[in-house]
Amino acid sequence: MTNARLNNFIHLAYGRRATRRYTDEPVPPELLDLLLETATWSPSAHNRQPWRFAVLEAAGSKEKLARAMGQRLRADRSADGDPPDAIERDVARSFARITGAAALIVVCLSMADMDSYPDAHRSQAERTMTVQSVAMAAQTLWLTAHAAGLGACWLCAPLFVPDLVVDTLNLPADWEPQGLLTLGWPAEEKEKTRAPWPSRVTFLDR
Ligand SMILES: Cc1cc2nc3c(=O)[nH]c(=O)nc-3n(C[C@H](O)[C@H](O)[C@H](O)COP(=O)(O)O)c2cc1C
Repeated sequence: MTNARLNNFIHLAYGRRATRRYTDEPVPPELLDLLLETATWSPSAHNRQPWRFAVLEAAGSKEKLARAMGQRLRADRSADGDPPDAIERDVARSFARITGAAALIVVCLSMADMDSYPDAHRSQAERTMTVQSVAMAAQTLWLTAHAAGLGACWLCAPLFVPDLVVDTLNLPADWEPQGLLTLGWPAEEKEKTRAPWPSRVTFLDR
């Protein structure tokens, strides 16, 4: 039932973690290219490959994005009436997380090549398939990074401020930010648990 390839993959899948602290060491450009190319071998609805990746490696670009997102975070949380010191802690944490990564990959979707429907129900289904396809590519990228010894983490913040991210990074209008993958050489080790897998599974005829 098992063989070396399967064992290797299981080890890889179990060992991948959300890594949130990185060393200062850069990610070699050819390794970053390899991660991105491998991600594009993910499955996608109609094989339309609706993923788009905006990559930031320079300190100035990362800071620009982190600052813009921090300003919006501050404004949103102030409007919520949260205590100013808690807001500033959160803004500083977010800035450190974003700028502390060697590379950032803004994972976007594009509906440009997807099918169009006249009704909302099918349009929504097509959109969901697009999100699913992009999530698969993100997971491939994350696992490939882990296989290379890199750490990565998915930050959902861009999903809450897609227009801000598009404007700040001057992205094409059809690129819709879904999340931000931070990437770098790990400076922490994490352990995680999972709910027992049978609690998430129903065998209907076993
Ligand atoms: C869709 C999605 C959104 C996530 N958003 C965040 C986030 O905003 N900040 C964060 O620190 N981690 C985020 N994570 C990472 C999860 O917290 C992490 O994957 C989860 O706790 C399981 O830990 P593991 O990946 O180390 O197994 C996100 C993961 C996914 C899949």
